[in-house]
Amino acid sequence: MLPLHTRVLGITLVLLGALSPATATRDDLKYVNPLIGSTNGGNVFAGASLPYGLAKPVADVDGENTGGFSTDGSNVTGFSHMHDSGTGGNPSMGQFPLFPQYCADNDINNCKFPKAARAVHYKNDSVEARPGYFALTLENGIRAEMTSARRAALYRFTFPEEKTENGTALDPTILLDLTDIYDTRQNASISINRESSRVKGNGTFLPSFGAGSYKAYFCADFSGATVRDSGIWVNDRAGSEPKEIFVTRGFNNFYLQAGGFVTFNRPENGAVTARVGVSYISSDQACSNAEEISDPLNDFDALRSTAETAWRDKLSPIKVTPGGVSDDILRSFWTGIYHTMLSPQDLTGENPLWSSDEPYFDSFYCIWDAFRAQHPFLTILDPRAQSKMVRSLIDTYKHEGWLPDCRMSLCKGWTQGGSNADVVLADAYVKNLTGIDWELAYKALVNDAENEPLEWSYEGRGGLQSWKRLHYIPYLDFDYLGFGTNSRSISRTVEYAYNDHSVAVVGKGLGKKDYTTYLSRANNWKNLFKRDQKSILTNGTDTGFTGFFQPKYLNGTWGYQDPIACSPLTDFCSLTSNPSETFESSVWEYLFYVPHDMAALIKFLGGADSFVSRLDYFHESGLADISNEPVFLTVYEYHYAGRPALSARRAHSYIPSKFNSTNDGLPGNDDSGAMGSFLAWSMMGLFPNAGQNVYLIAPPFFQSVEYTHPETNQTATIRNVNFDSSYKNIYIQSAKLNGKPYNKNWIGHEFFTQGWTLELTLGDKESDWGTKKEDLPPSMSDSLASVEALHA
Ligand SMILES: *[C@@H]1O[C@H](CO)[C@@H](O)[C@H](O)[C@H]1NC(C)=O
Ligand SMILES: *[C@@H]1O[C@H](CO)[C@@H](O)[C@H](O)[C@H]1NC(C)=O
Ligand SMILES: *[C@@H]1O[C@H](CO)[C@@H](O)[C@H](O)[C@H]1NC(C)=O
Ligand SMILES: *[C@@H]1O[C@H](CO)[C@@H](O)[C@H](O)[C@H]1NC(C)=O
Ligand SMILES: *[C@@H]1O[C@H](CO)[C@@H](O)[C@H](O)[C@H]1NC(C)=O
Ligand SMILES: *[C@@H]1O[C@H](CO)[C@@H](O)[C@H](O)[C@H]1NC(C)=O
Ligand SMILES: *[C@@H]1O[C@H](CO)[C@@H](O)[C@H](O)[C@H]1NC(C)=O
Ligand SMILES: *[C@@H]1O[C@H](CO)[C@@H](O)[C@H](O)[C@H]1NC(C)=O
Ligand SMILES: *[C@@H]1O[C@H](CO)[C@@H](O)[C@H](O)[C@H]1NC(C)=O
Ligand SMILES: *[C@@H]1O[C@H](CO)[C@@H](O)[C@H](O)[C@H]1NC(C)=O
Repeated sequence: MLPLHTRVLGITLVLLGALSPATATRDDLKYVNPLIGSTNGGNVFAGASLPYGLAKPVADVDGENTGGFSTDGSNVTGFSHMHDSGTGGNPSMGQFPLFPQYCADNDINNCKFPKAARAVHYKNDSVEARPGYFALTLENGIRAEMTSARRAALYRFTFPEEKTENGTALDPTILLDLTDIYDTRQNASISINRESSRVKGNGTFLPSFGAGSYKAYFCADFSGATVRDSGIWVNDRAGSEPKEIFVTRGFNNFYLQAGGFVTFNRPENGAVTARVGVSYISSDQACSNAEEISDPLNDFDALRSTAETAWRDKLSPIKVTPGGVSDDILRSFWTGIYHTMLSPQDLTGENPLWSSDEPYFDSFYCIWDAFRAQHPFLTILDPRAQSKMVRSLIDTYKHEGWLPDCRMSLCKGWTQGGSNADVVLADAYVKNLTGIDWELAYKALVNDAENEPLEWSYEGRGGLQSWKRLHYIPYLDFDYLGFGTNSRSISRTVEYAYNDHSVAVVGKGLGKKDYTTYLSRANNWKNLFKRDQKSILTNGTDTGFTGFFQPKYLNGTWGYQDPIACSPLTDFCSLTSNPSETFESSVWEYLFYVPHDMAALIKFLGGADSFVSRLDYFHESGLADISNEPVFLTVYEYHYAGRPALSARRAHSYIPSKFNSTNDGLPGNDDSGAMGSFLAWSMMGLFPNAGQNVYLIAPPFFQSVEYTHPETNQTATIRNVNFDSSYKNIYIQSAKLNGKPYNKNWIGHEFFTQGWTLELTLGDKESDWGTKKEDLPPSMSDSLASVEALHA
């Protein structure tokens, strides 16, 4: 029996549930909590940003600082202006941090300069993170607040009154450091204007998961206090003269810590305002970007509210009627959506690499993560932005010769598997995104499929000679055309096969004759399927399943990789630490990666029942890695075996136990919002099979969800009948589309563009809805079979 107070609470909750509004929530921005995913490896950017903004101010810590800030209890080393969100490589950017402090006895040489010396903890309960706003109070009492424009950050540092021993007031000092979070700075300069105290600077830095280097620039102005002194510092010494310094890496790549400082007479209210414009073009450009904030001293609140309005507007296409679900569920949902629009970042006008009238987006970090759910999500939430991103990818092909697979801070990022921008383009094509030059897009796609680059570590695909001749990527390939880590032969084979399917989809639509070449290469995954391969657990137990992908040598002889290797039951396999034939995931997980021909895969695995028991085993044995993107589609693949109820059940097994509203509420790196979009799709009741006009239907986690297409203005609705907020009724008994019975377990994008209504009647048991052959989503071999039947 439950203790009395719990029962009372239970009753209260039920009452609240009954009373909760039967209408859509308003002002959904209040459910966004940027701190969700700020510890436990979520690596989200928790600071202030506009949607897709370049300027991203936040506190940087010395612990889990990939996204700048973390609630992991580590110390603040500064406040910097540019970041990525959710990424898993080294920390990105974080250039030119400011650090506010008092120097004992007002002697600048008593200030703490190097990062390790100045790091200080913040008061745990002082952190405030809201869309467009971030603030915390350092243990020394200095409060830091920040908000942002597109290319400029605005900070307000409030210094408590403090006195020296003889009663003299201490003067606030703000340090500027010529560094980034990961200390990748090569050379850098800073100069302080004697009259205006405007500080300008620049530096060369290294990307966090890519090749080459990039330059970043800033321009800082201070207001609210008069300047008493300024100068530069090196290591732990400073002086008022000179007013500029150039630092570089010398002997042994030695890293010298250096920067500038400005000391102020403490104003009455203690507040010193810093406006920092950032740019990738020049310091002058950074200064004009700073002008986005015209009146720094008075603009803080207005800027913050402009950011809130921008976010409200971005969230506005979606409305939910909660039907009694908890605010925690609402917070996970809206925050997941919010996270999808921090990156890619709109760097239009900030690209020093080529000039073009096309938009330029950066921080596709990485497409391997984002193509599955995030880009499809932006396609519904913000089709204009998604169209610009696709145009930017194509323009990058035009000027750099290749579609990117991963891209950050103007550099080419390391390719993880296939050329997955192909899937992003195919997805945009089947969903009729407008404004895209499809002829040029097709050239870019064919380029990926046909031409091997010298460096396929960061563009295109490797092993294309074998791909065309042998129809698989061989284990230890003989490849003298290009260079990349000679590994991942299995995962590259299955991804290249799907990439070729994407090429075929666009080619067929454009009426290109060669599309059949790519359609046939889309079958290449079959060549690595070893029918008699078993999988034995580490304790010797046979999993009982036979037939897995295996590596194959050039000569056609099978190699071997334990099917459970690289799964959560064994070791994580990264590109650099222990390259394997599967990337960041196991043979078990990649087995389920045939998104275009699930019907053929199910046949290979012995039919629907056998497939379902294998998928169940995968999810229940610890082999599934919910912390990484390849798992996403596997949650919903029951649909292809005619068991949509099991997809719904599987989604509920992960949400909220692995995706929830706590600071550690993401199971892995958010990867620019990839995890957030998985969550958002799952809760909305549709899951995309990216690159195809297919959404798999499962009941929303709310009573109903309405969606208004930002271009057609049509409103689509998914409504649950018999919804219960305790999630016992999660199985579709019957469905109606626009009032007529609907038995297919999937639907196309027209649902969103034309504003259809899907009504799902729920029950607590699996039904026969969506289970028949004609109810299943399309598979390539089905349509081939019907084409063959036509020609027979
Ligand atoms: C602040 O939070 C961190 C991380 O949760 C914890 O380690 C630390 O003890 C907390 N400090 C205080 C003073 O509560
Ligand atoms: C108080 O101390 C500061 C530094 O310790 C010194 O600069 C200042 O002259 C002193 N003021 C008085 C009134 O003694
Ligand atoms: C964090 O800063 C506090 C002072 O605020 C210091 O006592 C502590 O040692 C620092 N922790 C680390 C890990 O540097
Ligand atoms: C700064 O470093 C970059 C990268 O190492 C180099 O290309 C450039 O020439 C350097 N600039 C100066 C002025 O030393
Ligand atoms: C960097 O800044 C220094 C000093 O302000 C300036 O001399 C130099 O030209 C700048 N470098 C670039 C590449 O803009
Ligand atoms: C081996 O491990 C599996 C999975 O943990 C477990 O179900 C099974 O009972 C174990 N078998 C033996 C013989 O320990
Ligand atoms: C194929 O190549 C592998 C790796 O070099 C070798 O171990 C195997 O014996 C070869 N098989 C045949 C049939 O030659
Ligand atoms: C929230 O999600 C995290 C990350 O997956 C998980 O570790 C934690 O147990 C979950 N918390 C709850 C209360 O379910
Ligand atoms: C959608 O609504 C907007 C704002 O009311 C309007 O400007 C636009 O023309 C509408 N579009 C269509 C296709 O009706
Ligand atoms: C895309 O446009 C074509 C041609 O107008 C139309 O047949 C198709 O239904 C549209 N697809 C979607 C998803 O709206």
